[in-house]
Amino acid sequence: MSQEKFYITTPIYYVNDRPHIGHAYTTILADVLARCHRSTGCDTFFLTGTDEHGQKVEKAAAKRGMTPLEHCDETVVRFQELWKKLGITNDRFIRTTQEFHVRVVQEILQELYDRGEIYRAEYTGWYCVGDERFFTEKDLVDGKCPECGREVTAIQESNYFFRMGKYRDWLVDYIQTHPDFIQPAFRANETLGFLRQELGDLCISRPKSRLAWGIELPFDTDYVCYVWFDALINYISGVGYKTDDAAFRRWWPASCHLIGKDILTTHTVYWPTMLKAIGLPMPKTIFAHGWWLTGNTKMSKSLGNVVNPMDMIERAGVDAFRYFLLAEMSPGNDANFSEAAFLARYNTDLANDLGNLLSRVSKLTVRATGGRIPAPGAPTEAEAELNAEVDSAVAAMKRGIADMKLDQGIGAVLNAVRAGNRYLEKCAPWTLAKQGNTERLHTVLFTAAEALRRIAVLLAPVMPEKMARLGEVLGYACGTLGSIGDLDRPGDLAGRTMSETEPLFPRILVESAPDQPARPVKPAKAAQTVQVSNRPEPAELITISDFSRVQLRTARVLEAMPVPDSAKLLRLRIDAGGEERQLVAGVARHYTPQAITGKTIIIVANLKPARICGVESQGMLLAARVGDELRLLTIDGDLPPGAVVG
Ligand code: ME8
Ligand code: MG
Repeated sequence: MSQEKFYITTPIYYVNDRPHIGHAYTTILADVLARCHRSTGCDTFFLTGTDEHGQKVEKAAAKRGMTPLEHCDETVVRFQELWKKLGITNDRFIRTTQEFHVRVVQEILQELYDRGEIYRAEYTGWYCVGDERFFTEKDLVDGKCPECGREVTAIQESNYFFRMGKYRDWLVDYIQTHPDFIQPAFRANETLGFLRQELGDLCISRPKSRLAWGIELPFDTDYVCYVWFDALINYISGVGYKTDDAAFRRWWPASCHLIGKDILTTHTVYWPTMLKAIGLPMPKTIFAHGWWLTGNTKMSKSLGNVVNPMDMIERAGVDAFRYFLLAEMSPGNDANFSEAAFLARYNTDLANDLGNLLSRVSKLTVRATGGRIPAPGAPTEAEAELNAEVDSAVAAMKRGIADMKLDQGIGAVLNAVRAGNRYLEKCAPWTLAKQGNTERLHTVLFTAAEALRRIAVLLAPVMPEKMARLGEVLGYACGTLGSIGDLDRPGDLAGRTMSETEPLFPRILVESAPDQPARPVKPAKAAQTVQVSNRPEPAELITISDFSRVQLRTARVLEAMPVPDSAKLLRLRIDAGGEERQLVAGVARHYTPQAITGKTIIIVANLKPARICGVESQGMLLAARVGDELRLLTIDGDLPPGAVVG
């Protein structure tokens, strides 16, 4: 992380796509990495943009009775506005129709042509308009595009070719000797697999008679340049190649081209050979992340199963959306998007764990000192434990940034949040206040607030607005919370003034009817008591003797069967420790009879028997639930049925 510069790119997206979660993900991931690097004091440049030439755009524009550029001018705004909404901090937005880019592409074409790297020949093959890619007969799968499965068009014409094939051996060697070049490593193997077959030359032209919307070849005005050849060059034209030498020297080679695995070949075969022919150094890393799926299929516009980011943002806010995408996907692999998972994670990680920690600390501090954050007294083991948890979150986040494992970094930070909540339970500052143990109270309040400060710094690249707000609650004016690079040094928290806060992440009620949109709880007083603190009101507190009236026991499920006419219920025969009983439980949607049989469960053993759907239930089992998810309570290790729980 002590690199002195960091230059990161996203793919430039096809301008007439509607941005969906896939596009948003790549761009947010790049943004978080850019913010993290800035936060560690690294000079950073972040480039994104749109790919505006090619047949798809030409067709879409013709259909609307517009010129291609008019069409692009209109549609590019969808991306620009969404990125603004999502808090994307790109340093430049490049459009391949911009004049400087067109000129750079033409200069490169002319130079390569002059040096014999580009030549003219007859071409026969197949073309997929959707992917703007050529394929040979043997590439096709069942006569269709091997990438997307759509129809391909037969093409025979005279064209210009880039001598890509001659770089095959060099490229294989380069990939093998530069393990960072293609990441994750299994993607490098994919590319090496592709390179095992012969590598043909790349057709880089289209006759204008077939496609006019592209960059004109400088050496033959009857042709335009192949859209991928034009698009890849954005990574160098966007940082000043041939237009601003100082900028180009400063930023090239790129630190990271972030892409989806759908465009691995163009980036790991076409682009490196193009750079080699031009005579430029290779980017340090090309990182291909997985796909967001719905069900088990890729989310894509052509498949019509896309999730619109705006819907999710309206539901839970921009930062929660950024958080979910980053926390949920481990960047090498695919991930499934479901609204239920989104809302469950929101309510658990953000509303419950993080939001709750902040509300408790701010409330307690305001009550104890009027808001002034006290200086700590002598630390005990409890402080050392919490501090160590936060230290390891700092280390995990730094590793996550360097190794593209932000999900793991975020996971470690959430562990620290949970440790913060446990710390409060354990040290019980509310009791210390009652006892008048001021020194200890101050230590606990300071330690919890300091953990929150460091957590906020770590999560700020992911949730910039919410963490700035958290900083304000801790007494840091917007933008002064500090950066990841400073986290190893002590902060300056003591003496600042903490304020009470509205819940940072209001709980979202997940209604059971699947077609009912869930909405954030707005004024709802009852809901606020839940999320401000998990601690019930005094009137709801029970004594240990109240609790001891409930007999909890372990039991083993001997047999399970469905209850007729009920989709929800299972009838269980259980061994409750020397006696057999029958239990009716509403778990059929979550456990099959086979899955539940043999499990050790926890039951309320002294519940009055009741008839459920006509079947007698002698007791009740315990289960935990979040949204639509349900899990049985069971025990850690082996104990016989009938063991007392409590
Ligand atoms: O390919 N999951 O543009 P494009 C995750 N113009 N990421 C996804 C995704 C999904 N389901 N769907 C799309 C192009 N993406 C070319 C690129 S670069 C010189 C030219 C993301 O609009 C992912 O980053 O089809 C993928 O690589 C990119 O969008 C493709 O965007
Ligand atoms: Mg695509």
